[in-house]
Amino acid sequence: MHALEASSLWLRARAPAPPRVAIICGSGLGGIADRLQEPVAFDFADIPNFPSSTVAGHAGRLLFGRLGGQATVCTQGRLHSYEGHPPWKVVFPVRVFHLLGVRILIVTNAAGAINPDYSVGDLVVIRDHVDLPGLAGNGALRGPNEPQLGPRFLCMSDAYDAALRSAALAAGKALGLGASLRRGTYAMVGGPGYETVAESRLLRSLGVDAVGMSTVPEVAAARHCGLRVLGLSLITNKAAMDYEVERASHDEVLAVGEQRAATVESLVEAVLNLIT
Ligand code: HPA
Repeated sequence: MHALEASSLWLRARAPAPPRVAIICGSGLGGIADRLQEPVAFDFADIPNFPSSTVAGHAGRLLFGRLGGQATVCTQGRLHSYEGHPPWKVVFPVRVFHLLGVRILIVTNAAGAINPDYSVGDLVVIRDHVDLPGLAGNGALRGPNEPQLGPRFLCMSDAYDAALRSAALAAGKALGLGASLRRGTYAMVGGPGYETVAESRLLRSLGVDAVGMSTVPEVAAARHCGLRVLGLSLITNKAAMDYEVERASHDEVLAVGEQRAATVESLVEAVLNLIT
């Protein structure tokens, strides 16, 4: 708690206005931060206690500014469990956002399609998730509870806010995204290896639509401290459901992220314009 408070006090003294919305950007999707008006940026490394990331395509900055009429804070670069970070580090930024007064968390990610109807480039409004690390005992909230942040046991059946999901679907419609805007279930896997064919088939049998290596820890921490959450996945590749077909590659994930980043950014901005 002390480390979180030190980070938030340091930022509070330097940030332009208390943010109401926080955005955590996925692989190749950090361009949202470039749309902030009057941005003020801080390197993760300069913020007391703030953990830093190591993956290519993930800068490590926190930006404050206005987006879609909302005082917003945005991360460029995100920590992943597969880098070896313990869960408390992965969710550290979310808890700092809470202490800064943030009420809404928007999380974006790059994901593989498990649903065979999905195409590369589709956007998914996350309806629900499967926390595979969590189900196996490695969830983000494992360990001693901080009662100042939230309860030991929490409801996760309504993790993704209904009003924010409706706003995202309405914004997507207005942007003309049509059938490329989906509503689905995201599964978090530990990574960093992409799924085997048998694993992808297993996920499909569980009712999963999209798979990735992030998001769920941040969502769990956000719900723990009472933030409303919107999750968006960009489908960057199709998970291999057959031995003869596609192979997932990080280059493909980044390339599709680059091609579709502007659409994801526009959707996020439109959602912020819709919420009051
Ligand atoms: N699997 C897991 N994580 C991912 C994928 C995938 O196919 N694509 C982007 N992130």
